[in-house]
Amino acid sequence: MQTKIIKINEKNFSKNDLKEAIKLLKKGEIVVFPTETVYGIGANAFDKKAVKKIFKAKKRPSDNPLIVHISNLGQLDEVAFEVPKKAELLIKKFWPGPLTLILKKSKKIPKEVTAGLDSVAVRMPSHKVARSLIKECGFAIAAPSANLATMPSSTIGKHALDDLNGIVPLIIDSGFSKYGIESTVLSLITKKPILLRPGTITKKQIEKEIGKINLVKNTNKNINEKPISPGLKYKHYSPKAKVILVMNKNHFKKKVIKVSEKNKVGVISFSKKLGLENEYFFNNNKNLFAKKLFYCFRELDKKKVDFIIIEGIKEEEIGVAIINRIKKASFQIC
Ligand code: TXA
Ligand code: MG
Repeated sequence: MQTKIIKINEKNFSKNDLKEAIKLLKKGEIVVFPTETVYGIGANAFDKKAVKKIFKAKKRPSDNPLIVHISNLGQLDEVAFEVPKKAELLIKKFWPGPLTLILKKSKKIPKEVTAGLDSVAVRMPSHKVARSLIKECGFAIAAPSANLATMPSSTIGKHALDDLNGIVPLIIDSGFSKYGIESTVLSLITKKPILLRPGTITKKQIEKEIGKINLVKNTNKNINEKPISPGLKYKHYSPKAKVILVMNKNHFKKKVIKVSEKNKVGVISFSKKLGLENEYFFNNNKNLFAKKLFYCFRELDKKKVDFIIIEGIKEEEIGVAIINRIKKASFQIC
């Protein structure tokens, strides 16, 4: 299969630019499209055959459910069986945007989407291309991140192509994803809501709207137990290079020098530039760190570094999500 790439500018595009993608999705094909978090690989959420193609393309385990993307609130009733008050409050505040809610699923959503669970993950992206695409198709689109399973999510069209060339018919490339890490995932099916995955929308912001929420326990260790969020048990976001996260910034430079003695090293620095060859420096900018983290993973892999050494940041606000992703990709944390 030849993979076609269409470049679309979020700030200036017409329905006509989406013609091919709409046609493919309507006939049960899969398409890579941009969102404000990371790129998604989407299919008609009500077409189980189409949805199965996503799992095959990504080599994703079939017990890891997908997020259903909608373009307007009218579509929510087709996806979710009920929308509790807390969901309403969060929707009002954060949609469209990078917040995924786990709700009871409607009968219309096939079990292939939810991996057999009675719940469904749903979000309304703020990316204009994503929303137009869903609107013009006329159905909700199920989409995980557009990367091969275990690889870092794609935040530029080219990275989706690196993983999915010859596997998907079409990639819509709209440049860099605005946020660069996946949406916050919050479960509302339990009495007290549970934060399953931290993201740009923080725990504090959510609690301001609906009161106290719980944090999910890390289920990585109990691989055979049925987890609350199936995605938690899988290896994620990992570049080929071994990732070392240095939480104490005073030890960072020393660690880099030590590992560099015998290895090719890539570096992600935050507070101070070290001036090395394969270094990305974020100049104390957390949003930039989030936006470029997966990008750096993939670019440093292309340079065939053995290790990627990262200067950690405080686990507060967006820092919680950044460190969460790095820890999941880490070979060593010190
Ligand atoms: O920002 C995002 O969320 C991106 C863009 C494309 O929207 N999508 C994304 O999808 O990150 P994915 O499949 O890579 O991550 C979805 C996560 C997985 O950890 C999955 O286990 C969890 O959401 N999930 C999906 N449905 C669930 C459900 N019914 N109950 C619990 N967790 C669920
Ligand atoms: Mg993913």
